[in-house]
Parts: sequence; structure tokens; C-alpha cells
Amino acid sequence: MSALTEKVQKAYQVEFQQEPAYTILSPGRINIIGEHVDYNDGFVLPAAINKYVCLAIAESGSSVCTLVALDLNKSFTFDFNKEVAPVEEMWVNYILGVVAPLEKQLKGFNLVFSSTIPMGSGLSSSAAVECGAAFALNTLFNLGLSKEQLAKLGQQAEHTFVGVKCGIMDQFASVFGKQNHVLKLDCTTLAYEYYPANLGDYCLVLLNSKVKHTHLTSGYNTRREEVEAGLKIIKNSFPEINTYRDCTMEQIVAVKDRLGETLYKRCSFVVQEISRVGEAVEALTNNDFETLGKLMSATHEGLSADYEVSCDELDFLVNKAKNIPEVVGARLMGGGFGGCTINLLKRSAVSKFENEVQVAYKARFGIDLDIYKVDISEGTHLFHK
Ligand code: GLA
Repeated sequence: MSALTEKVQKAYQVEFQQEPAYTILSPGRINIIGEHVDYNDGFVLPAAINKYVCLAIAESGSSVCTLVALDLNKSFTFDFNKEVAPVEEMWVNYILGVVAPLEKQLKGFNLVFSSTIPMGSGLSSSAAVECGAAFALNTLFNLGLSKEQLAKLGQQAEHTFVGVKCGIMDQFASVFGKQNHVLKLDCTTLAYEYYPANLGDYCLVLLNSKVKHTHLTSGYNTRREEVEAGLKIIKNSFPEINTYRDCTMEQIVAVKDRLGETLYKRCSFVVQEISRVGEAVEALTNNDFETLGKLMSATHEGLSADYEVSCDELDFLVNKAKNIPEVVGARLMGGGFGGCTINLLKRSAVSKFENEVQVAYKARFGIDLDIYKVDISEGTHLFHK
């Protein structure tokens, strides 16, 4: 982490011949359970991790702003005297999307950033950039925005400048993360509670399939449309229902014909996933990791067969993991269509697990897995030298 902050601060100095006023660390996230339910009035159980975007910022002294993405070796300049609008380059949109709604309260600034969160791997590197940029602007210009407002600004950027109609989970986890704790977030009210991430003899290991989730944007937005359409049909028959949280499986089954096969599968997944999160919190509280693992694996089955956001590589990794007796749960994590799986397993079996999946994945797909043992960390914060 200090290597990352030093690199970014040094690059800022070289680029702009001055020290940055502030250096910010903004983390990626994992999610234990509760996938694709943040935009369906469910609950989620994410946590921030010790992989970060680091951003250095200071005023530029004019209306011109320069953004430097060290990892991409690219920079972008814009001027507050002209309209701030989306551009071709996606990395720029993560930041411009946060800048645009605040524009009137800002002056020119320069920003340099770099990241240790692998991009496009389901660890929310984009949310980390968005929330880091929002935090940086809030600090530099004394905007007085709350943590909730920062998370919402990040989500808004994703909707308006990036084009993914995401829920609030990633940005909320990035901003509100707490060391060694998972967050239980009520996605309707944004009320949240922290639970100690005490996993006893178990641990979490992530496997990066290295399949970039390029279909995520279209696939994700289509799923949103499908579940909205499904909810309308359900409400027609059960007017007392407002959200998926109020729905039972019996009600979904009752309107099966009207939903048709695809929407039936989508709606079933959502209702079951919402109830799994409740059970998972109970299992976590009781230190019942076998049950927690079973719920995680059930989530994968639903994401793959009913929500249809998996792919061959992720299914392969999950199946391989489940064949190892010390692994109690495995599933794809995040939006899907590629990225990482999250695995709950006995600490004592980590090396065996790593070797077995590594060898099998290479043999089947010719790809070297990246394996991460992450620590649960603090949310977006100011770095003090
Ligand atoms: C992406 C989105 C989140 C959430 C997950 C799936 O990460 O950004 O809002 O919907 O997918 O749980």
C-alpha cells in the first residue's frame, strides 16, 4: 500500500511540479452473498478489501483539469468553461461522472491515480475510482457531503456516464467498509449494520478467471429490465406487493404462466437470493460456516441456471472447488459474465485448493489463474503519510 501511495504521490509531483494536497485510498470489495438483489430491494453482505485505488489531488489554479491514469499511461484534460460530458474513454467517465453533478461547486484540479484492484474482475475497481474521486473532491473543496452522498454520487456516475444501471452495493461497500467487518446493507433504506468477519478455521479465497466481463453492461441492464417487467406482472396479480422483498415463491409460482420461462427464472432467483441473505447472516452470527458455504453455493446455482450471468469458466471453477471436501462454498461474485469466484474453505486446505484449481483450470482453458487471499479493510479514506 505504501508502494502504491508513494508511486502516485511521486508521479503527481513529476507531472505538476507540486505536492498533492491530499492522497486518498479507495478500496475494492468482495460480497459474501446477496448478488443482483441490491437493485431489487434486497439485502447484501459485502466488505471492502485491501486492494485499492490511490488518488492524489490538488487545485490546478485555473479552470483546466488534468486527470492522469498511471496504470494506463494516459491522461485527459478538460476545462470547466466547457460542458462536462461523457467521452469515449471509460476510465475518464468514472471521474467525469462524479465531477459533472458537483461542477458548480468546484474549481480546477489535477488528479493522478493508480490501482491494485484488477480491472474488470468483479472487485469493483470502477466503484473504487468513482468513490475515491468523490471523496477527493469533497475533501479538496470542502463540500460537506456525507458518506452516503459520496456512495450515491459514485452510483450516479455509473448510471449517467458509464451506462451501467448498477445498484448501490459496490459504492456503498467501498465507502462504508470497516476493517475485519462485513456490512449488512438494506438496499431499500440504506440502513446498515457491521458484523465481525470472524471465520474461525475457515477463510475466503478469490479466483480470478481472467475472463473480462465485457458483456456485463448489456447483460446487466437487460437483467434489470427483465426483473422490472417481472415485478409488474406479479403486482398485477398481487397488488399488495411493492417490491421483491414482499414476494414469496408461492406467489411467483402462481403467476408462472404469465411470466413465461425467462422472467419466471429471473424472479425466482431474486426471491430466493433475498431469503438466502437472511439465512447467511444467521449462519455467520452462529459461526455455522458449513451452512454459510451451502448458501453461497446455492447462490451460484441460481446465478448460473436461473439468472444466467455465469460463463463456462466460472462454472468450471465453482464445480472444481466444490469437489474438494474442505471447500464448503463457492460461487461467482459480482455482476458475473466473468471476473472472480469467491470460495469459503478450511484454512488448512488453502495450498491444496490453490494447486488443484490452478492445474485443472490451466489444463481446461489454458489460462493461469490469479488467486487472492484478501483482508477486509477500511472504506475510502485519507492517507496520512
Ligand atoms: C455489479 C453492480 C452491483 C450489483 C452486482 C451484483 O457489481 O455494480 O450494484 O448489482 O453487480 O450483485
